Amino acid sequence: MNAKLIDDDCAVLVQDLTVAYREKPVLWDIDLKIPKGVLLAIVGPNGAGKTTLLRSIMGLIKPAAGNVSIFGQSIHQQKKSIGYMPQRGSVDWDFPTDALDVVMMGRYGHLGWFKRPSKTDKKLALDALDRVGMADFSHHQLNQLSGGQQQRVFLARALVQDADLYFMDEPFVGVDAVTEKTIIELLKELRNQAKTVVVVHHDLQTLSDYFDWVSLLNVRQIAYGSVKDVLTQENLKTTYGGRSAFLTANQSAHNQS
Ligand SMILES: Nc1ncnc2c1ncn2[C@@H]1O[C@H](COP(=O)(O)OP(=O)(O)OP(=O)(O)O)[C@@H](O)[C@H]1O
Ligand SMILES: [Mg+2]
Repeated sequence: MNAKLIDDDCAVLVQDLTVAYREKPVLWDIDLKIPKGVLLAIVGPNGAGKTTLLRSIMGLIKPAAGNVSIFGQSIHQQKKSIGYMPQRGSVDWDFPTDALDVVMMGRYGHLGWFKRPSKTDKKLALDALDRVGMADFSHHQLNQLSGGQQQRVFLARALVQDADLYFMDEPFVGVDAVTEKTIIELLKELRNQAKTVVVVHHDLQTLSDYFDWVSLLNVRQIAYGSVKDVLTQENLKTTYGGRSAFLTANQSAHNQS
């Protein structure tokens, strides 16, 4: 085994990762070392490769080159539980099931084959729905919930997985301000329990309040490190090109203070 893959403080280690769809590279030579117990944002424009990066780390996409290890092992040898909340719009929200069932699905990794969910599993699922403010909707069909309510149900599902590492693809998109606050508080709580949380995020205004670390991505990794160090006008310009004009001098000063 490659000795470089072993690092006790590291939740995720990505080395020289290149991913291509039909021979067109969408991620190029990415190196990323995510320490345990951080709340990290992956930031970049549409099509930058953010979702592809998460899915490659989780072993759902085969890279053209490079290595990924999670807690020092390849994803396929990995015994630790990993929570994943996919990007909205990438899931068939129409399947006939209620909110409680969706959350219970998060417990399947703990149940083993053919075991029915116990009362404890059900209680954990109901507690998680309560934490995201959806207790009153446990028996509502998923396709009869609003988009933001569906997001909250999928967040509850990720929470009951009791994972060591979470990947969340744009959890704040399409939710109201109160839900956004609930979600970020939950994510910070997970981080405070020494879990590692990796979040695709679009809102530059909230980056420094919400996250410890950030990776700026646009096919290549433009910058990686603490939010304070990475969030410079120059890095944002390289990441977004001319479209970084929306970042006001005011905000930049705030972020760099
Ligand atoms: N299954 C696929 N087949 C071919 N190309 C794909 C596929 N999935 C994504 N792509 C392309 O790969 C690039 C990266 O896509 P990805 O979904 O990772 O971007 P993203 O950063 O998550 O964007 P967004 O902010 O819009 O979610 C895009 O150019 C996209 O068109
Ligand atoms: Mg995406």
